[in-house]
Amino acid sequence: METYDAVVIGAGQAGLSASYHLQRRGIPHVVLDADESPGGAWRHRWDSLTMDDVHGIAALPDADAPGTPDGRANQVVPAYFSDYERAHDLPVLRPVRVDRVEERGDLLVVHAGDRSWTTRTLVNATGTWTQPHLPYYPGAADFRGEQLHTVSYPGPEHFAGKRVVVVGGGASAVQLLGEIAPVAADTLWVTRREPVWRTDDFNPDAGRAAVALVEERVRRGLPPASVVSVTGLALREQERAASLLGAYERHPMFSRIEPDGVRLPDGEVWPADVILWATGFRPAVNHLAPLHLRSEHGGIQLDGTTAVADPRVQLVGYGPSASTIGANRAGRVAARGVAAWLARRDTEDVA
Ligand SMILES: Cc1cc2nc3c(=O)[nH]c(=O)nc-3n(C[C@H](O)[C@H](O)[C@H](O)COP(=O)(O)OP(=O)(O)OC[C@H]3O[C@@H](n4cnc5c(N)ncnc54)[C@H](O)[C@@H]3O)c2cc1C
Ligand SMILES: NC(=O)c1ccc[n+]([C@@H]2O[C@H](COP(=O)([O-])OP(=O)(O)OC[C@H]3O[C@@H](n4cnc5c(N)ncnc54)[C@H](OP(=O)(O)O)[C@@H]3O)[C@@H](O)[C@H]2O)c1
Repeated sequence: METYDAVVIGAGQAGLSASYHLQRRGIPHVVLDADESPGGAWRHRWDSLTMDDVHGIAALPDADAPGTPDGRANQVVPAYFSDYERAHDLPVLRPVRVDRVEERGDLLVVHAGDRSWTTRTLVNATGTWTQPHLPYYPGAADFRGEQLHTVSYPGPEHFAGKRVVVVGGGASAVQLLGEIAPVAADTLWVTRREPVWRTDDFNPDAGRAAVALVEERVRRGLPPASVVSVTGLALREQERAASLLGAYERHPMFSRIEPDGVRLPDGEVWPADVILWATGFRPAVNHLAPLHLRSEHGGIQLDGTTAVADPRVQLVGYGPSASTIGANRAGRVAARGVAAWLARRDTEDVA
């Protein structure tokens, strides 16, 4: 069986950037992606998320940015990725869902069902979309209404005339409330801590400061915290109608869920038809469990993009690089890390 110098898992922004830079360095590799077609998580974003709504998609290496043409992000970005894969002849195999990565001596073996790939190094670029975070609150199993997470947001029409509780204080909660509040019978926004509203622009300096905070956590081996905990929140023009309706009057978390609503800390029950959990995501890294990369603090400790517990493994799109611009840069750094590891191995083999 062929032994690759690198296997990349995931063909979102981070995986494509890594593949581009590996290719530039002449490093033989393959990219394994679970989806049916190009686009990474962007294929699965809700239909009402337009290119006007997104925070901005950074250009992939050696390409123009997709810009902000009219259109749905779940169509524009996948088309952009598809053109990119073709233009650069990137070696993407799909659909291939990796189940686990195991160590075999000096090598790593990547398993997907009954298929496997042997490699000297690994670049993990599996994002967070497939790991929605659904916290437990007492009474949840007995709720007679509907419970949804951001990942399966069906669009505002679904909530017309309903009483909707939105949980979570991040951009997803704010933007989904912006769409739901104008059509719902009523909305209740609950967060476990006071939202932090930005009074300034989220400019590149603010972006760098946010990334530095996440970098610091990941360098210490802590799991990344919520995105909003480092970025803060802002309302846009799209949220004006909801704001005028009072949708952004924040309430503290409910104490429990009742069959027909949620019990607020003052003991009152707020009757609800739907609970929308806008409670964020976790890194999709379960397939790496056999490598024991987690630190005693519960996160994967990184030095740049290199896993401290196993320098054969690079993580991109993880923690500080979980943005399109961060994913781009991380792809370059990871390819450098792969090259450094391979060069070290070659030197040892010669010695
Ligand atoms: C609603 C929403 C909007 C966002 N908007 C922006 C924005 O405007 N600008 C911005 O910079 N960031 C934005 N982000 C953050 C965004 O997620 C990242 O910027 C970026 O798209 C993530 O890229 P990625 O390559 O790390 O992951 P993804 O795009 O999630 O790609 C991961 C790939 O890995 C594959 N995969 C996962 N598990 C496996 C497995 N086990 N085996 C094989 N393949 C696997 C998936 O199929 C997928 O193709 C947004 C996030 C959300 C949730
Ligand atoms: N238009 C766009 O481009 C757009 C739209 C939506 C989202 N996004 C992006 O998508 C990414 C994810 O955003 P997100 O809002 O989904 O996630 P997020 O920023 O990680 O926020 C998750 C929220 O859920 C809360 N939460 C977590 N566990 C909880 C619990 N047990 N009980 C109550 N609340 C809990 C968090 O609270 P704590 O902070 O206290 O942990 C936080 O308020 C970000 O990068 C964001 O920018 C972009």
